[in-house]
Amino acid sequence: MTDNIYLPYLATVEKITREAPGVKTLRLKFQDEEVARTFAFQAGQFGEYSAFGEGESTFCIASPPTRKGYIECTFREAGRVTAALAKLEEGQTMGFRGPYGNTFPLGEWRGKSLLFVAGGIALPPMRCVIWNALDTRDNFKDISILYGARTVADLVYKHELREWGERPDVRLVATVDPGGETPDWKGEVGFVPAVLEKMQPKAEGTIAVVCGPPVMIKFTFPVLEKLGFSPQSIYTTLENRMKCGLGKCGRCNVGSKYVCKDGPVFSRAELETLPSEY
Ligand SMILES: Cc1cc2nc3c(=O)[nH]c(=O)nc-3n(C[C@H](O)[C@H](O)[C@H](O)COP(=O)(O)OP(=O)(O)OC[C@H]3O[C@@H](n4cnc5c(N)ncnc54)[C@H](O)[C@@H]3O)c2cc1C
Ligand code: FES
Repeated sequence: MTDNIYLPYLATVEKITREAPGVKTLRLKFQDEEVARTFAFQAGQFGEYSAFGEGESTFCIASPPTRKGYIECTFREAGRVTAALAKLEEGQTMGFRGPYGNTFPLGEWRGKSLLFVAGGIALPPMRCVIWNALDTRDNFKDISILYGARTVADLVYKHELREWGERPDVRLVATVDPGGETPDWKGEVGFVPAVLEKMQPKAEGTIAVVCGPPVMIKFTFPVLEKLGFSPQSIYTTLENRMKCGLGKCGRCNVGSKYVCKDGPVFSRAELETLPSEY
């Protein structure tokens, strides 16, 4: 391993999945055999993914640490770097720095029920924790997943949603915004906070993980509070813009915290101690 902390590992794009309009998943394999063998991370961590000549973009690691030999990222084309990453073809090389940031405390959650609430392109950070929990299913009681997108076409990981929906040990509720449904849509129609209230999940002994656009989070937290979830039992992950990912450039700070080092995973109790600009 090199001493230059900004030098990325080289990775080959092994597989590309088109998830939704403008959204792709890349499966990456590290080219250095030693790195491929020893690379380790935990659910919730992120990396800096580079398209050579264009720059770096921050994405979570969307595959679970329980699946070895590769990592995956899922991203929406937003600008320059993501457009360049979206042009890569299978077999081509890109860069990865990481893993960075803190993790979801899955060890502390042993013996509890888990409720995942995700919206739109925010399912990737959640997918990592969901698969980690499902691959160690005996550690948890009930597992419920509520996932919403604007339209049926915008739902990501469609094949995995089908798989989770068919599992007897998972309660999956998928929803699309009013007007986003197709004639054959069998899920819910409604915004995530309203569908969550209708689901009436029990708060006792349950950890809620919420990832989504700020507006979804804003309206979901009060519903969870009404259902009896304490600030200590609700977790989310922040996506403040980053540059170094290493706590050095100051780009991502909220109050006294660096989201890249102290986060990106925060409990609601921790968020309440931060300035509201997060
Ligand atoms: C910890 C973390 C995890 C992330 N995980 C994912 C992920 O798994 N999948 C994914 O698609 N995206 C994720 N993002 C957001 C992603 O980093 C940006 O969308 C991406 O870097 C845009 O790069 P770009 O050069 O293509 O766009 P730019 O040209 O830099 O920007 C294009 C547009 O996107 C907006 N934008 C850029 N970065 C962000 C951001 N952090 N939050 C909100 N808007 C932004 C810009 O304001 C601009 O409007 C994550 C961000 C963080 C900090
Ligand atoms: S991204 Fe540089 S300090 Fe967080």
